[in-house]
Amino acid sequence: MPPIHAPFPLSRPRRLRAAPAIRDLVAETRLAPSDLIWPVFVRDGEGVEEPVASMPGVMRRSVDRVVEAAREAADLGIPAMCLFPYTGAEHRTADCAEAWNPDNLSNRATRAIKAAVPEIAVMTDVALDPYSDTGHDGFVVDGVIVNDATVEALVKQALSQAEAGVDIIGPSDMMDGRVGAIRAALEAGGHHNVAIMSYSAKYASAFYGPFRDAVGASSALKGDKKTYQINPANADEALRMVGRDLAEGADMVMVKPGMPYLDICTRVKAEFGVPTFAYQVSGEYAMIRAAALNGWIDGERAMIESLACFKRAGCDGVLSYFAPAAARLMAGR
Ligand code: PBG
Repeated sequence: MPPIHAPFPLSRPRRLRAAPAIRDLVAETRLAPSDLIWPVFVRDGEGVEEPVASMPGVMRRSVDRVVEAAREAADLGIPAMCLFPYTGAEHRTADCAEAWNPDNLSNRATRAIKAAVPEIAVMTDVALDPYSDTGHDGFVVDGVIVNDATVEALVKQALSQAEAGVDIIGPSDMMDGRVGAIRAALEAGGHHNVAIMSYSAKYASAFYGPFRDAVGASSALKGDKKTYQINPANADEALRMVGRDLAEGADMVMVKPGMPYLDICTRVKAEFGVPTFAYQVSGEYAMIRAAALNGWIDGERAMIESLACFKRAGCDGVLSYFAPAAARLMAGR
């Protein structure tokens, strides 16, 4: 569409910026609590809320406190929560068997939330990193992250999550063939309505640092994840991954990290027209919080602006640690 406008002073674009009511009226996109998915860290114990040092304002919560958080999210109009377990060293083994233990932390939290606050959609992460002694998302054999054996384990993990009652499965491991294998297993197991939000365009990013700290994986991780996560230099490759995951049965796709990858969000939405989400990751959250705590930026404005930009870029929603704070601000609470 060619830009058509009358010459100045017939056209004065500032007319539409002159007052809040007019600005609201012509806003092209809007941010609402219903756009948000809240990632939460779960830990053992009861009545525990333990701050994550590298993510000011973020807690590791025991299951009972996660249920309280779910109730708060529902009250604020946040539709979904995403669970990440903080797994103790005793559950990190070479065979990663805790990943498909029906009573692992993630599955216990899922059951507790679905029993108490059934209206909240629960999403879980499929990847072996919380359970492996190497901190990698897959099995490591002779220094190599092996694909096909990992996919078999991911299928068991996904099935145990479905049996615990999750609404959305989020494969974040970047192994080849995992979405198709998980989808087939869910169908065979009668879990027809369990949705898959694939971390399709997941980059090998430095912005995951605080997360690895939060789930206790930083000290475990040997090496990097470049043999499975996408090179930040690439965009066409991300589109191929999205197309592949959709062809294998993904219902929704995700771009991760978020803000440095808004170009990918826009291209994914434009080319595929499917439900597209961005993950504003731990490092992005930490940067905004840290600058705000130093008084270098207005934290609330930066939070809302950063989230609203995802909508403008074409995303249907955002996974963000800001979810409750942003929803509270939007509700004027
Ligand atoms: C693990 C996983 C990671 C994140 C979500 N799932 C870390 C990683 O790939 O190393 C990162 C989230 C964040 O940084 O907020 N599969």
